[in-house]
Amino acid sequence: MTMGDDRLDWIFDDSSALEKRYDEWAATYDADHDRWGWRGPDLAATAAMRHIEIDDATASIVDAGCGTGKAGIALRRAGWAGRLVGVDLSQGMLDRASSLGVYDELVRGSLDDVPLADGRAIAVVSTGVFTHGHVGGHALAELCRITRPGGVVVVTRRLDLPDDFAHHADRLSRAGAWEEVARSEPERLHPDRDDTEQVVITWRVGAGAIADEGS
Ligand SMILES: C[S@@+](CC[C@H](N)C(=O)[O-])C[C@H]1O[C@@H](n2cnc3c(N)ncnc32)[C@H](O)[C@@H]1O
Repeated sequence: MTMGDDRLDWIFDDSSALEKRYDEWAATYDADHDRWGWRGPDLAATAAMRHIEIDDATASIVDAGCGTGKAGIALRRAGWAGRLVGVDLSQGMLDRASSLGVYDELVRGSLDDVPLADGRAIAVVSTGVFTHGHVGGHALAELCRITRPGGVVVVTRRLDLPDDFAHHADRLSRAGAWEEVARSEPERLHPDRDDTEQVVITWRVGAGAIADEGS
């Protein structure tokens, strides 16, 4: 097993020190993910650009769990010229993202309680975050909250997780808070690391209330 594989596994095995561990991984994260052929950021950026409908030069895209900034680079490459805001738990990862010069604002914070105002984003993109020992399905409500009505939320999701993701996504749909508008075919988004299949899901945010928190 390579050093990079070790790191991915211990991050997945223990979430209690996730922030510190990403701080330590920040320097070599990009090299590991380039070697594994990580495709999530490109696919999510393409999906976001395809579904954004609001024409507003002041609008922001929020990269939730931005890490070293791979989705930020992908969004710029896909043509996003407006404001780009990154949020992440790890200052080490944010420092790497900052060095790219593609984000207008980088915020340290948790997706459990995103430190951004309601309706701040025209789109939220989150890649590689809804996975083992990272962020639970309950955080989908936060991504929905910071997106304005008519905007979109685009997330990569591993299919091997026995998690609460679908429960929370469906709850938001039933409440009229958002509607799923696209879902990619399952495929390997780390093709040179493992056989895990993932999907890219896009929801369009509506005006509906988010009922019954905690259900
Ligand atoms: C596998 S990396 C993905 C980074 C980037 N989005 C990408 O696709 O390369 C997961 C990122 O999520 C961040 N993260 C994990 N849990 C988080 C939480 N609760 N709130 C905010 N960020 C979190 C980590 O610090 C890390 O930067």
